[in-house]
Amino acid sequence: MDRLQQRLKTLVELFKRYRLIPVVILDRAEDAEPLGEALLQAGLPLIEITFRTDAAAEAIRRICRRLPEMTVGAGTVIRADQAQAALDAGAAFIVSPGFSSAVSDFCIRQELPYFPGVTTATEIQMALERQWRILKYFPAEASGGVRTLRAIAAPFPGVQFIATGGITGENLADYLKLDCLLACGGSWFVQRQLISRRAFDEISHRVQSALRHVVKAT
Ligand code: 3PG
Repeated sequence: MDRLQQRLKTLVELFKRYRLIPVVILDRAEDAEPLGEALLQAGLPLIEITFRTDAAAEAIRRICRRLPEMTVGAGTVIRADQAQAALDAGAAFIVSPGFSSAVSDFCIRQELPYFPGVTTATEIQMALERQWRILKYFPAEASGGVRTLRAIAAPFPGVQFIATGGITGENLADYLKLDCLLACGGSWFVQRQLISRRAFDEISHRVQSALRHVVKAT
């Protein structure tokens, strides 16, 4: 097994175990460590930090350095230079809202797991032609939710999805029941405002509650 496949396998095991990926927007890189600690305290050693703010790369770097037990991914990566910055900072995987050939080529060269976003069969086929079989279904709720995902996944039995966009404690269980669903990503338990207010205890409680929803659903 090559290095990329080995890395993907490790991530799949992690996603299967926790089934929940916190997708975060950080306005200040200095909030990264307390946020990581809050997640660890709640029992979730996994985070996706989005390149929606300039703090992303530094936030990834801080968590990777100070909390090595965390697996840190980079989200909202739409250009290869962002993927490079994420890799340099220590990111273990790259997520895009859509499919980017430039990011895909970069990740293949670097043997770095990439989860491109898809909502159509055409996009799934584009990803499959590049050998990516774990795909982000985004924006999940706005694209038709569980019903659409089930229908679109049907012709692609080898593909597994990470659904994100509009997922909450209310609809999480419906997604987790799908055979094609590896994990759900979301911000509902790690909201930007909570991080900005440095409400890390509240975040920890919300993460625990989200993890309880996962246990109930499976
Ligand atoms: C993402 O980037 O994956 C989504 O913005 C997360 O979606 P949510 O904020 O609706 O949970």
